[in-house]
Amino acid sequence: MIWMFSQHYQHYLDLFEPYLEQAFPEQARSWGGNVTTAARYSLLSGGKRIRPVLVLATVACLGSDPELALPYAAALEMIHTYSLVHDDLPCMDDDDLRRGRPTCHKQFGEALAVLAGDALLNRAFEVMLDDMTTGCQNKIEAARIIARAAGSSGMIAGQTLDLEAEGQLIPPEKLERLHQLKTGQLILAPVLAACALADASVPVTSLFQSFAANLGLAFQIQDDILDVTASESRLGKSTGKDQRDQKSTYVTLFGLDTAQAYLKEATRQAKEALGAVAGLGYDTTFLEDLADYLLLRDH
Ligand code: IPE
Ligand code: IPE
Ligand code: MG
Ligand code: MG
Ligand code: MG
Repeated sequence: MIWMFSQHYQHYLDLFEPYLEQAFPEQARSWGGNVTTAARYSLLSGGKRIRPVLVLATVACLGSDPELALPYAAALEMIHTYSLVHDDLPCMDDDDLRRGRPTCHKQFGEALAVLAGDALLNRAFEVMLDDMTTGCQNKIEAARIIARAAGSSGMIAGQTLDLEAEGQLIPPEKLERLHQLKTGQLILAPVLAACALADASVPVTSLFQSFAANLGLAFQIQDDILDVTASESRLGKSTGKDQRDQKSTYVTLFGLDTAQAYLKEATRQAKEALGAVAGLGYDTTFLEDLADYLLLRDH
């Protein structure tokens, strides 16, 4: 069956959303009361679900069943959501709006938002470990990739550099590194975890690595651009905040036109790597369309 891109995306969401909902269940309230409500408030409040879609689509591209990757897709979305809850706290970016609703700390208070982020992070690893009853080697490798990408040499390193770079003129290489860490690592991890789960060969994995590293950079450059060009209602989060906080971004350091040029170049390189994957006989249509969709996204 030939799918339109949007139908195909929806197909992955239909697979993912019910799984995610039960992976952090309402019944968990009996363990932690309001922390469960706060965690579910942020986790189940929309979002594009790019990271889970990347896991499922890469596994499918490699010829395996996307359902086997659901625990890893859910774990990545939990880790991503925790990073947003903490990113929005007054001690970090101090934001009031996220996914079209008041941020977690605005709704539940700072202490509960910290705990909800912690709870999401821990539950991510529990969900992956729960899956490790049979055929574990590739699953352990996928979980290791995700753990590393989320940690103090991955996303957390990037968030630290992001705060340190406030009010500074940093060189382009440093900005690229910052973006590749704070956002790129959690875009790279879905693709590399999928390669592990589907037992991809080393050369194929290395092409996917190049695809996802460029896609992750492009994703954050677009995030920087949308902070100045998008409407708040469409974006679901406040705009103009990078300038306000003197953040180092592709727009604040180089201006909009140069940022657009970097975005296009990173997307071109991502698609070039996918072209090489396609040359090996894999159907990369959806992932190519996804790169274009992210290039043109307005939220
Ligand atoms: C926002 O991520 C923060 C970044 C890492 C750029 P998304 O743009 O994926 O946010 P949601 O998940 O769709 O809300
Ligand atoms: C967020 O970058 C990166 C992570 C959450 C790891 P931003 O601070 O630019 O994300 P938004 O714009 O608040 O979504
Ligand atoms: Mg931030
Ligand atoms: Mg922020
Ligand atoms: Mg941003």
